Amino acid sequence: MKKGFVALILAAGRGTRFKSDTIKVLHPLLGRPMLGWVVECLSRLRPSAVLVVVGHQKAEIIQAFPAKVRFVDQKRPLGTAHAVLSAKKALLEDPDQHVLVMNGDLPLVQTSTLRPFLNQHRKQQNALTFLTAELDNPTGFGRVVRLNGGTIQIVEEKDTTPAQRRIRESNLGIYLFRAKDLFQALPKISNKNKKGEYYLTDIIEIMSRQGKKVSPSRTEQTEDFIQVNDRFELAKAVDVLRMRKIKALTDGGVTVYDPATTWVDADVRISEDTVLYPSVIIEGRSRVGKQCRLYPFVHIHDSRIGDRVKVLTSTVVESSTIEDDAQLGPFARLRPNCVILKGAKIGNFVEMKNTVFGRHSKAGHLSYIGDATVEDRVNIGAGTITCNYDGFKKSRTHIGAEVFIGSGTEIVAPVKIGKGAYVGAGSTITKDVSPGALAVSRSRQVEKLGWMARKKKK
Ligand code: UD1
Ligand code: CA
Repeated sequence: MKKGFVALILAAGRGTRFKSDTIKVLHPLLGRPMLGWVVECLSRLRPSAVLVVVGHQKAEIIQAFPAKVRFVDQKRPLGTAHAVLSAKKALLEDPDQHVLVMNGDLPLVQTSTLRPFLNQHRKQQNALTFLTAELDNPTGFGRVVRLNGGTIQIVEEKDTTPAQRRIRESNLGIYLFRAKDLFQALPKISNKNKKGEYYLTDIIEIMSRQGKKVSPSRTEQTEDFIQVNDRFELAKAVDVLRMRKIKALTDGGVTVYDPATTWVDADVRISEDTVLYPSVIIEGRSRVGKQCRLYPFVHIHDSRIGDRVKVLTSTVVESSTIEDDAQLGPFARLRPNCVILKGAKIGNFVEMKNTVFGRHSKAGHLSYIGDATVEDRVNIGAGTITCNYDGFKKSRTHIGAEVFIGSGTEIVAPVKIGKGAYVGAGSTITKDVSPGALAVSRSRQVEKLGWMARKKKK
């Protein structure tokens, strides 16, 4: 193989064994669609292009992979050979180029696993090289059958004889072809088999018989080759990826107390000396800085967390930014669009949404702060509620720096509380408060002396 190669990923099968409305290759593993893992793995080998064969739910697949890949259409899923044939026009643009064909349901394959395979194909100048391994449990794989005279066959499990079924050398679903040899042999494949499909795997025998240089590339059995045909295999594959991610995090200086219960999505980044307690979940494109401590049952999604942040037990953070030295929880909930500035504290049973919360400001207990701007060094008393919704529209609350809000206050938005003002406990604030003023809005306490004694007499 003198020239480079094109990667072709087969992703048009329905994946019926998933029993899902969503096509198999779009099911996520650790926050990335299955197909994304395969695209990523192959892209690292620097192919001249990555092509994906799509059919069922084509629009959804194309939408999930903007720009990165080219798509070709397989009108009906008539089998893996038919899928490759759909890419004929694109691949024969240069008949001397080579084509790496890979099944789209192999999310665990790593680039490093494929390098020796590419090298062998190059060195031996093969027309076809395909990856095989001796599997302890080859169930679900095509078996590699070596006939007298050196011809090699792959027999799909459904079509095996009992003796062939005992063969453990299996076809892993990754092939390298010279383009012109591929398209010379492809039309010779028939669909006379148990499934009535055009099997790409039949090409091995056809090309062997044509006297083309066909060579299996035998590799070690590793978890890379777990194929995902059903949801149990999906769960197994996710577990492998999860542990790989945890290994990468710990290698990067993150402490993970309990790998078995820790979930960190593939695209999350965490800096050194941060500690994850058991049962922490961090999803999406989250970033966590250094020296943070995330306590048990913390759930973070698509958020940015600075350095030295403490997130206490059972706190949920979604699409928000938390600056350095802040502290959240236990039992706090930050809904989308919160920005918690440096050194701020959000305590137990506090819910926030679409709010900027100032430096060193505090909301310690049982509050709802929504659609608000809270400036620096503000103290929000227990049980404070911003009434941001009047049944028709949302309105904002603005609380100036160094304001003190007494406990049990309702702040009816839109409203502004000026810098340094003081709001008495139990107030319902409906009008703006001037800077430095005291605002109290509650009925005066009345006292009736001897009232209990009189009541008892009656
Ligand atoms: C295939 C191989 C089998 C191998 C196994 C390894 C064939 C006939 N068999 O079996 O030898 O051991 O993979 O993983 O190739 N697809 C299309 N269009 C179609 C049919 C399938 O694009 O018409 C795609 C699927 O989306 C999937 C891939 O091809 O990503 C493989 O199809 P699948 O049905 O999973 O093949 P297996 O039965 O697993
Ligand atoms: Ca498969």
